[in-house]
Amino acid sequence: MSAAPEFAQPASLPPTSEDYHALTIRSVHWWSPTLFSLVLDRPESFRFISGQFARLGLPVEGEWVWRAYSICSSVFDEHLEFLSIVVPNGPFTQALKHVQAGDTLYVDKRNFGTLTTDRFRGQKDLWMLATGTGLAPFMSILRDPYTWDTFEHVVLVHSVRDGNELAYLEWLENFNEDEIFGEYAERFRYVKVVTREAVRGAFDKRIPDLVESGLLEQEVGWEYSPERSAVMLCGNPGMLRQMKTVLQGRGLTVNKKSSPGNILWENGFLPEDNKHADL
Ligand SMILES: Cc1cc2nc3c(=O)[nH]c(=O)nc-3n(C[C@H](O)[C@H](O)[C@H](O)COP(=O)(O)OP(=O)(O)OC[C@H]3O[C@@H](n4cnc5c(N)ncnc54)[C@H](O)[C@@H]3O)c2cc1C
Ligand SMILES: NC(=O)c1ccc[n+]([C@@H]2O[C@H](COP(=O)([O-])OP(=O)(O)OC[C@H]3O[C@@H](n4cnc5c(N)ncnc54)[C@H](OP(=O)(O)O)[C@@H]3O)[C@@H](O)[C@H]2O)c1
Repeated sequence: MSAAPEFAQPASLPPTSEDYHALTIRSVHWWSPTLFSLVLDRPESFRFISGQFARLGLPVEGEWVWRAYSICSSVFDEHLEFLSIVVPNGPFTQALKHVQAGDTLYVDKRNFGTLTTDRFRGQKDLWMLATGTGLAPFMSILRDPYTWDTFEHVVLVHSVRDGNELAYLEWLENFNEDEIFGEYAERFRYVKVVTREAVRGAFDKRIPDLVESGLLEQEVGWEYSPERSAVMLCGNPGMLRQMKTVLQGRGLTVNKKSSPGNILWENGFLPEDNKHADL
């Protein structure tokens, strides 16, 4: 990895430094050459709901660059954790990939987003379907006691190209050993999907194919239904579009503020201006 760039004082600041926290990075963990997690100090005043995202900022060549990042850590953690891709030529991640423990990262004081389980009404099976870094909000939701008080069954499906992109694999595979959440392991299913190499114990078909063919239901032992299913989608916009169609074909409805249905999503990869685009 090349040397960290100097984060000189930027020429143009965001509206005012009262709008963001300057946080110290505690650690950086690389899962693959293009995927890493960051742990930051958490200010006591930074509150959020599991599933929400924050805006991270860095001065890059004298200008501020801000990007949306789902929060991975639990609402109860004393730190903030994020999972990041490295986009070739991406203005933000080409700078972020150089940060190290002890460096400063800027975090907007506000939190955003409606990919939260409080949007559902009475459904008992939570299905969280993610591609790539779409895993991030679901890590926070999994680590929230509210999830386990609210849902009887919880499924996490994570689809990646290569096996080394299965972030948090060890913790997810050994969920039963977690000090706090291990007692819920019987109610949890973790399904791995690796589409571009053969990995033992992982499906090789994309999520919509697994759902449409019934393979996913067969694997976890629970079925989708309008009465029981709360489905959350995060990741590739193509996956979101296809899943919406497949699930609607099974009688599930889109969750809107005005009518709390079964399907909720976050447009994770879209540029921020398009994040409310109609799928
Ligand atoms: C609500 C929301 C939540 C997000 N949460 C995360 C997160 O938790 N982790 C994360 O790494 N990114 C997340 N993103 C994307 C993030 O905001 C940036 O786009 C990303 O950090 C890349 O920034 P960049 O400036 O390097 O490239 P950009 O110029 O922002 O992106 C260039 C292109 O790279 C692709 N791309 C960007 N981000 C991703 C991604 N995560 N996975 C696959 N392709 C991508 C897209 O095709 C995009 O058009 C989120 C975006 C939104 C809108
Ligand atoms: N992952 C890498 O090795 C890597 C490295 C450098 C740069 N990048 C760039 O980063 C961007 C994102 O890469 P990513 O791997 O995180 O995300 P991605 O391309 O969205 O792939 C993540 C997972 O989502 C699946 N997927 C893609 N489209 C889908 C759809 N319409 N329906 C269902 N599943 C779908 C992929 O399956 P398929 O494999 O079948 O597509 C893969 O399993 C890409 O633009 C890529 O060029 C990726």
